[in-house]
Amino acid sequence: MEDNKIGRREFLAAGIKGIVIGSLALSSFDILKLVARDKHEESVEAAKTINISDYPELATAGGYAFITKNDIVIRVSKSKFLAINNICTHKKCEVDFDGSSFECPCHGSTYDKYGKVTNGPATKNLKSYKTTYNSDDDTLTINM
Ligand code: FES
Repeated sequence: MEDNKIGRREFLAAGIKGIVIGSLALSSFDILKLVARDKHEESVEAAKTINISDYPELATAGGYAFITKNDIVIRVSKSKFLAINNICTHKKCEVDFDGSSFECPCHGSTYDKYGKVTNGPATKNLKSYKTTYNSDDDTLTINM
């Protein structure tokens, strides 16, 4: 006849094993949550709102102005704006904007005014930001 009873020592060992495994599982879950939270925070965009009247160049369609050292806003129409980062996606040089397209002085990559690559060696488009124009107070919110 088989004896299904376990000794006190075996019972404690099994209990401790269960606690250790449970703790590790919980710790792993916490770590995954932290990683997920960090990834989420990295992807959270910071919104910047500018008053268009502070940038006379943006008063009419076709105008453009740098709103930070490397971020340019281009007014496409009465209510449409583009916001583009001017760091080349090839080797990180600052690209020049001539009013209609971007050109990199380092190796010659070109991009259209939307930041789309038109000539390499760059293969990735310039970083662009979502913009929201509020005509009521003439402000532009840029999700950077
Ligand atoms: S860094 Fe712009 S083309 Fe190389």
